[in-house]
Amino acid sequence: MDSKNLDRSRLPHHVAIIMDGNGRWATLQGKSRIEGHRRGKTSVRVIVETTRKLGIPFLTLFAFSTENWLRPQDEVHALMGLLETYLIAEQPKMMRYGIRLKAIGNRDRLPLNVRRTLEDVIELTQRNTRMTVVLALSYSGRDEIVRMVNKIRRRVLAGEFQSSDVEEEIVSAHMDTPDIPDPDLLIRTSGEMRISNFYLWQIAYTELYVTPTLWPDFREQEYFQALQEYQRRRRRFGRTDEQITEPARLRVGSSGRES
Ligand code: IPE
Ligand code: IPE
Ligand code: MG
Repeated sequence: MDSKNLDRSRLPHHVAIIMDGNGRWATLQGKSRIEGHRRGKTSVRVIVETTRKLGIPFLTLFAFSTENWLRPQDEVHALMGLLETYLIAEQPKMMRYGIRLKAIGNRDRLPLNVRRTLEDVIELTQRNTRMTVVLALSYSGRDEIVRMVNKIRRRVLAGEFQSSDVEEEIVSAHMDTPDIPDPDLLIRTSGEMRISNFYLWQIAYTELYVTPTLWPDFREQEYFQALQEYQRRRRRFGRTDEQITEPARLRVGSSGRES
């Protein structure tokens, strides 16, 4: 299939991807896990480019979880190296196409050289407006929630607001994604039916799509299929079918109030 089968007026605004299966891809090819990650980097390039061409404004890529620090040291080291070379290689393209880079997660744990490169690219691209790529690095949903609670606690202690003022909006504003809309579509490759500590707060009403395709094999065609499936979904946000007037984008919080 190609992108002609997609309804351009009903594309998601934000796609988030759990890029899984590099290791299994490598094992199937008789290659090292690191070779799998290298090949996975090509998929990243293709998916960013396709997202840009489709005009989808936000893309989050789960690249490295808090728990991934527990992997063998040589694999962690190789992943950090691939991340750095990716950032350096893609920086000119980000400028050419107006792509803004953001990162979520606990940056302090990244090796200094990677953190510096990351921060340089974030700064360089901060005024780009055509598309935002969010890299989840040393990220986990629970770690983000703990950091959010502590940020709010500090502001309450500083007298900036009262703990009784804390509502959904305040919580959202203190997550790692205050200026990023919630994902409309979450894709997970390699067939695992779990979230693995990725976005938790943000996926309250996200459509989930799991494909058995391994990340190094996830390219344009597979992406189009996921988007086409997304377009077949009926998002009700807790309401009845009759209340839904396509293509209205309804948003309600858990309190049931519209925002
Ligand atoms: C995803 O592939 C990449 C990262 C988690 C960094 P994996 O390395 O998890 O591949 P599998 O799941 O072992 O196949
Ligand atoms: C999720 O994949 C994390 C990333 C894709 C970065 P994992 O391979 O770490 O997840 P589990 O261990 O299968 O749950
Ligand atoms: Mg995995």
